[in-house]
Amino acid sequence: MAMAASASGDAFEGVAAELDYPMLIATTSADGESTGCLVGFATQVSLQPARFLVCLSDKNYTHAVATRASHLAVHYIAADQVELARLFGEQTGDVINKLARCDWRLAADGLPVLTGAECWFAGPIVQVVPFGDHTGFVIEPDRGAAPERSAQLLSSLQVRSLEPGHGA
Ligand SMILES: Cc1cc2nc3c(=O)[nH]c(=O)nc-3n(C[C@H](O)[C@H](O)[C@H](O)COP(=O)(O)O)c2cc1C
Repeated sequence: MAMAASASGDAFEGVAAELDYPMLIATTSADGESTGCLVGFATQVSLQPARFLVCLSDKNYTHAVATRASHLAVHYIAADQVELARLFGEQTGDVINKLARCDWRLAADGLPVLTGAECWFAGPIVQVVPFGDHTGFVIEPDRGAAPERSAQLLSSLQVRSLEPGHGA
């Protein structure tokens, strides 16, 4: 890749647009509402205790539910499950019930767990941090299922043409 020097914020956007990172589907539940959305802004932030950060746009329906929720689940899906990514990334719970259009099961603490995921983990929300137009939800994973084989997981460059269901 050729590098062009830039003194403006365009450089950051240019770099970020080329990064390939894992995509996940975060689900949550509160007051009888269960939902989820496609997320790219996420990372492990502590080893002991194990903690994982999921950043949700404050415009998203999932954000509204998560602010009232006690737990959050994180699912990684296979590289060929773009349709599932499309459902959670291009549709909004403001308009449709995404969980009526995919397979899932009800797990402990009312969490919806997507049965089509390659692997998942979940846990209580232990910290909520405002970051600008996204809010960080830090979970302490205490359950889940590891992948049975080393599957190729869905990553950001594969879904960069999707149109988010909610404007940023
Ligand atoms: C490639 C891609 C990455 C995204 N990353 C995030 C993200 O990190 N955090 C987030 O809250 N939404 C992210 N979104 C947007 C939401 O998944 C999308 O707006 C979704 O429709 C919101 O659904 P909801 O309103 O039901 O929560 C991303 C969407 C796409 C297509």
